[in-house]
Amino acid sequence: MSANRPQRIGIVVAGYGYWGPNVVRNVIERPEFKLMGVCERDEERVSSLRRRHPGIWVDRDLDITLTDPRVEAVAIATPPSTHYELVTRALEAGKHVLVEKPLATSSQACVELIRLAAQHQLVLMPGHTFVYSPSVNKIRELIHGDVLGEVFFITSSRMNLGKFQRDGVVLDLAPHDLSILLHWLEEPLVRVAASGRSVFHSEVPDTAFMTLTFASGTQANVQLSWLAPRKVRQMVIVGSRRMVQYEDSSSDETVRVYDRGLDFDEPPSNFGEYNLTYRTGDMVAPRIDAVEPLALELQDFASAIKTGAEPRSSARLGVTIVVALEALAESLRQEGRPVTVPPIPLVGSNGRLRVAEGNGKRPSADGVLSAGSERFVRGIGSANGGAPGADGLVAGGTERNGESRAQELDRRRP
Ligand SMILES: NC(=O)c1ccc[n+]([C@@H]2O[C@H](COP(=O)([O-])OP(=O)(O)OC[C@H]3O[C@@H](n4cnc5c(N)ncnc54)[C@H](O)[C@@H]3O)[C@@H](O)[C@H]2O)c1
Repeated sequence: MSANRPQRIGIVVAGYGYWGPNVVRNVIERPEFKLMGVCERDEERVSSLRRRHPGIWVDRDLDITLTDPRVEAVAIATPPSTHYELVTRALEAGKHVLVEKPLATSSQACVELIRLAAQHQLVLMPGHTFVYSPSVNKIRELIHGDVLGEVFFITSSRMNLGKFQRDGVVLDLAPHDLSILLHWLEEPLVRVAASGRSVFHSEVPDTAFMTLTFASGTQANVQLSWLAPRKVRQMVIVGSRRMVQYEDSSSDETVRVYDRGLDFDEPPSNFGEYNLTYRTGDMVAPRIDAVEPLALELQDFASAIKTGAEPRSSARLGVTIVVALEALAESLRQEGRPVTVPPIPLVGSNGRLRVAEGNGKRPSADGVLSAGSERFVRGIGSANGGAPGADGLVAGGTERNGESRAQELDRRRP
């Protein structure tokens, strides 16, 4: 190894199911990491891993991984119900953790994990991949550059056929919409309402309809389903000046900006009577960088480990999303009754994460930001937002052989 080459971070990926192979491939492709092994229990999945990546070391239960000092970090891509236990074990063993969304299945579990990470001075980062999507960040630029004007409402359809999971469609898919919407709007979610249908398993909705109300009054209506004839990932943002359609598909034109809307005559032509005119101007499809969001997410994780900078997909974003998921679950239980989203634990009115040192288990009412924990909680989430690249993220996508671009992009889509 050249003397100038920066030390690579030894990392193990836990979970090689549906999403894990994407994490493994990106870890292998990222220069900041050295893949030390994969942790997977299922023998069929292990065989699939061995076929694709011969020679990779396999751990069945993180045991050896956690005692190996060359392993500095663990990327966890196991089902949500396992996150709390696996993240706790990894942090207690002194490893930095990137854990797939959601951070955990309850806000109390998130609080405990955040405290544990602060106590051990380790990075804890939830994998909210969409906040690294170039299309999502292009729309964020349009919103914050006031190109769209006031955002009146947003609709989202996130549907496909399967795959059924026991945690339900809301826990599986809503974190994507919540992370995108919080990243775009940079304002608190104040109220949610959700109804759903459980077709295959009572109590576990496979289809859900959610209405989300943000502090400024902007509303989002989100449809989630594992029962749909084809994969749909479409969002529409309706602003006072322009409207945007965002389709997370294999097409080149993922974002379309429409100069369309309704204008009032100002002042009214007759007393009290406003004339409305329809504006049907041009559609523009801005250039979007062809970079895989997961590659940028891993790059941000490496940067957080090396420099202490807070990742864009921060622990604060993670706990904020889990609090929203709890409110959505409550509304589902009450058959769609609107539920007020409670304050986010550990997040102060200034938007910063407050982490008290101590037993690492229970949040104090006024958590103190200690010098030791500051490294992991500064510049959190949307507060450090900005356009992609503003925080030093560099495009690093790679092409693969033997696949069309469309197939490749489809496989990489969450
Ligand atoms: N960021 C994204 O866009 C995105 C997309 C899909 C899934 N996910 C997330 O990735 C995670 C995994 O989802 P999935 O769809 O791949 O699930 P999956 O069930 O397909 O795969 C999970 C794998 O983890 C393994 N596993 C379970 N417990 C384990 C343990 N204790 N030790 C080692 N291996 C274990 C299972 O054998 C399985 O192979 C979830 O948190 C999910 O929300 C994220």
